[in-house]
Amino acid sequence: MSVEKPLVGVLMGSKSDWETMKHTKVTLEEFGVAHECRVLSAHRTPAETAEYVQTAEARGIEVIIAAAGGAAHLAGAVAAHTVLPVLGVPMVGWALDGLDSLLATVQMPRGIPVGTLAIGKAGAVNSAILAVSILAGSRPELRVALKQHRQAQADAILSETLD
Ligand code: RP5
Repeated sequence: MSVEKPLVGVLMGSKSDWETMKHTKVTLEEFGVAHECRVLSAHRTPAETAEYVQTAEARGIEVIIAAAGGAAHLAGAVAAHTVLPVLGVPMVGWALDGLDSLLATVQMPRGIPVGTLAIGKAGAVNSAILAVSILAGSRPELRVALKQHRQAQADAILSETLD
């Protein structure tokens, strides 16, 4: 049995982020995109984080999603080591409701981009959809799946009933 090589690396700074980042995994699974999820921290495991990122491209990873909260430097630290697209997901923090995470993730210096998503669950889901969009550039079947996903969402909204 051959195991599909992951195309998306989903990183998070702590296992405490998993409750939110599970939604990234579930969404990637909905699109049938092979991925791997790891806890790696910009601050607590800097060397291992750099090692993961520096070897990612050679292992076939095409997009990296990085989630962190508070002093949320993981996505930026990842982007510093690769030219792969890096999508940052700010976690709801323990003190400032995620505004700290959002600013730490989004305010990258010129020349080292991080595509930053919304705080929390919406960002977790959208990071997966955006990763699929990036992969869809060279995979027509994923573009079809994205269009079907949009249509299913629209159908669900239009079939809502209110008491
Ligand atoms: C960040 O600090 C993590 O990404 C997490 O969102 C936050 C808290 O981490 P724990 O103290 O729960 O491990 O690095």
